[in-house]
Amino acid sequence: MVKPGPQGGDPKPRVAILISGRGSNMVALIKAAKVDGFPAEIAVVISNRTDAAGLALAAAEGIQTVTIESKSFGKDRAAFETVLQSALQKHRIGLICLAGFMRLFTAEFVQAWYGKMLNIHPSLLPSFPGLDPHAQALNAGVKVSGATVHFVTPETDAGPIVMQGVVEVRDDDTPETLSTRILSIEHQIYPNALRLLASGKLRLDGAICRVSGDADSAGTLIAPRPTSG
Ligand code: GRF
Repeated sequence: MVKPGPQGGDPKPRVAILISGRGSNMVALIKAAKVDGFPAEIAVVISNRTDAAGLALAAAEGIQTVTIESKSFGKDRAAFETVLQSALQKHRIGLICLAGFMRLFTAEFVQAWYGKMLNIHPSLLPSFPGLDPHAQALNAGVKVSGATVHFVTPETDAGPIVMQGVVEVRDDDTPETLSTRILSIEHQIYPNALRLLASGKLRLDGAICRVSGDADSAGTLIAPRPTSG
């Protein structure tokens, strides 16, 4: 059993949020971390695109932003990561949250940050990884879907699952309506997953992530709701 993230006695971990676009999960993380007692500090937001709308939102929240335009690196992922790594070091980053970051990493970078880098994906992984997860869910006819926070591994949208949130899928859903419902769950689970990691409550048991002191829950979720008669 391996304890990921900060170790006992470490100071409050400094977090970098990596974005490529809108930044709504980024804002949820920033707002949660501003509340007294949150066990991590959002130190910097890094975008790989100059036109990411989230950059202005981060600045409005008083968070330092850095842009490392990845397009100019072409397919040279390692060269991009060298620049990224030096920005992470400069800001003394201990944990990374990917929040709509649309660039793949090399296996080396992922290994170096294993246990310290989270991602969020808008489906109940391992179902519907990759592109268009909402359309994938609708095409499969599932009755519930949701979002997953997981540790990042070299395989896309895989890695030990930290937390999931579930929403019902309605008969008249479109990818847009489903995505809106899932996004509000994303904004709840991502800060909570970061809280668990930063407060040392997670344990990695091979490919399985376990949580100490699991909160009580109803234990079941059924959709559509059963009707009598
Ligand atoms: C979210 O749906 C997230 O799950 C996925 O990309 C989207 C990013 O949205 N990885 P936002 O930029 O956080 O608003």
